[in-house]
Parts: sequence; C-alpha cells; structure tokens
Amino acid sequence: PYPLYAELRKTPVARQEDGSYVISTYREITDILHDPHLSSDIRNLSHPTAGAEEQTTPAFINLDPPEHDRLRRMAMRHFGPPHTPGLVTGMEPALSSIVGGLIDDFAGKEQIDLVDDFAYPFPVTVICHLLGVPREDEPRFHLWVNDIIDSIDYNPKTDPKEKLDNGIQARKDLRQYIGGLVEQRHGRPGDDLLSRLANDDGPDGRMTDEEIVATANLLLIAGHETTVNLITNGMLTLLRHPQVLQRLREQPDLVVPLTEELLRYEPPVHIIPWRAAYSDITVADTVIPKGSQIMLMLASGSRDPNRFHDPDRFDPDRRDNQHLGFGSGIHLCFGGPLARRETQIALTELVRRVDRPRLVADPPQYRRSPVLRGPIHLHIEQNG
Ligand code: HEM
Repeated sequence: PYPLYAELRKTPVARQEDGSYVISTYREITDILHDPHLSSDIRNLSHPTAGAEEQTTPAFINLDPPEHDRLRRMAMRHFGPPHTPGLVTGMEPALSSIVGGLIDDFAGKEQIDLVDDFAYPFPVTVICHLLGVPREDEPRFHLWVNDIIDSIDYNPKTDPKEKLDNGIQARKDLRQYIGGLVEQRHGRPGDDLLSRLANDDGPDGRMTDEEIVATANLLLIAGHETTVNLITNGMLTLLRHPQVLQRLREQPDLVVPLTEELLRYEPPVHIIPWRAAYSDITVADTVIPKGSQIMLMLASGSRDPNRFHDPDRFDPDRRDNQHLGFGSGIHLCFGGPLARRETQIALTELVRRVDRPRLVADPPQYRRSPVLRGPIHLHIEQNG
C-alpha cells in the first residue's frame, strides 16, 4: 500500500532542502500538470544526466509549446487512434502474432521468466515494426535498447562506469542507425512511421531529419520499458488476485477496465521527476517560486483517498478511473492507445494459454529506480 506516499500526501506541496518541490496529491498534481507556467524543457533543468546524451535536438517530451505541440502533432498524424486512424490501428494482427509466437516458445518449459521470455522482447519488436526497421536488424536494436535501459538506473557509487559508457555508446549507435534509415526513406514513401515522417508535407510542414531521429528515439525509450513493466506488474497482480485472473479467463472483455486499474494500482511510471517553474506557480495556497524544480508523484496521486474510494484495493470494476498512469495535460502519454492494446492482448493471451501459472517468488526483486517500477525478473511455473 505504499506507506511513504500516504506520509507524503500529508503535505501535498512539500519544499525540499535543496529548494525543489514534491507534489503528492491528485488534485495538486493535475493542477500543476495543466499549468502553462510549467516547463519540461531539459535546457531549463540541471539534472545530472541531462548532458550525458549529447542530444542536439531534444525530443518533444523535453520541449515546451510551441515546439512541443508542433512536433507532437506531426508525429500524431501518423501514429494513430484515438486521434487519427493511423498506424496503430493496422497493427492489431502484428501484435497478436508477436504475442502468439512468444507464448508458443513457452512450450515444454516448466518455468518461464515473464520479463526475459515475454515482456522484454514484445514492445521493442512492436516499435521496430512501427518504425519500419528491417527484420534482420532487430537483434541489434534489442541490444541497443538493453544497454540504454540498463544505463538509465546508473548509480556512480555502486555501478561500473562501463554501464554508463555502454548506454551512451548505444544511444549514439542507435541515432546513427535511425539517421541512416531516414535517409534511405526519402522519396520512398512506405507504410511505416519513418517513411511517413520523411515524406510528409502536412499542415505543419516536414520534420527535419534530426527531428525524426529524436522522435523515433523517444518512442523507443518512452515506449519500451514502461510497457514491459505494465505487462509484468499486470501478471504479478493477477497472480496475487486469483479470483480476478479466473474472471478474466471467463470474460476476456474484463481486460479493458482491468488494464486501466493496473495503470492506477501498479503503474510503471511512479514519478515525473524533472519539471521546472517558468514563473511563480500557486498551488494549494503555496507559491512555488520561478526556477524551482518540481517532482510529481503520479503513483501517489493515483492512490489518493480524496480522489479514489478505497484506493489500496485492486478493483477492475472501479468506475470513473481517471488515473495518472499516463500523466496528464499536454504531455499526456502519446503512446497510450498502443500501450493499452499491447497490454490487453498480452494479458488476455497469457491468462488463456499459460496452464496453471504459479509465482516462484513473491515479492520478486524490483528494479532500483524510484521512477520506473517493475520486477527485474518474474519467474512463473506452468503446468503446476
Ligand atoms: C509520455 C507513461 C507507453 C510514448 C508519457 C508520460 C507518462 C507515460 C507518465 C508523461 C511524461 C511527462 O509528462 O513528462 C507511459 C506508460 C506506458 C507508456 C505507463 C506503458 C504502459 C508508451 C508507448 C509509447 C509512449 C508505447 C510510444 C510508442 C510517449 C511519448 C511521450 C510519453 C512520446 C511524450 C508525450 C509528450 O511529451 O507530449 N508516457 N507510457 N509511451 N509517452 Fe508514454
């Protein structure tokens, strides 16, 4: 039940010793995320890893209007529902076939690791399809993504420096690789996101190659580990609530509200760590001075008893479930429709096809990050 969050919510807007602010209640988090004086521009922030990437063009998650809105709109034109019938709509058969193939490989194994054998390979394969990465290059893509994700948790006190260096190198290699793909796609419009972006002359004009590379990178980084964790947290939660698991087997439509409840109850993103106040922001009678850094405790907001009845109960029948799992405001998760379908298909098929699943250890070992929450491995016995 996250007692730390309950403690934090006693002071909804809390000033830290270093002058930054921690916001932990639902109403205050949503108010701030909708405040036009809040900035996401990494160039305004002094986060230790901000420079590590040598990023020339920030992706739109790290930009403010009007640049943010223009780039997001351009990407959204092609990406898909609910805004346009874009690429994601056409991906349903591919999602089912990737999930089916991964579960086929469980055959004959007494024990599977849901992370390595399923949740990890799934979203990265989906993003490769979406971007139009040739199949033979997918393994390289997987390795780069592994190195990048590993380095996100880098702790200079406990980790070998190699971990950080590998991450930086992988980011460079990935950018270079995507840049090469974008160059090839000019003048060759195909039905993948890179081709569409490279040849699009929509109302906002065309993205530069650098902007396309930054956007592709963003989709990969923002859309991979998060989806891995939602699927893994989802299966873990179902195994801890066998009656819900059984209902899902009998009533596959339950997966839609169930996925929303997972995004509230065990969300992959617990914190939006780096926002800054452009000018003074007043919230809950407190003035957050211009220039302050602001940390938004999304997972705490989604468990706020002033917003959700009996918030520590996992209840897939919950109504009015406006959780903060995808954030809120202008940066509301861009990949929400895709992440939802990926998770819905994954959970439905896992529950349908894995025979008598049983957790080997509960709780499993979690990754160390306070921002992203999910198990490092999730060992499950089948045919028990
Ligand atoms: C933004 C969560 C999957 C792409 C966000 C934000 C959250 C989030 C909390 C807000 C960040 C902020 O306000 O700074 C999640 C979760 C996911 C998921 C929990 C999976 C369960 C995806 C996928 C994609 C994606 C699959 C793309 C393929 C993005 C992008 C943004 C974003 C591009 C930035 C939007 C903007 O700045 O306008 N996501 N995400 N996400 N997400 Fe997701």
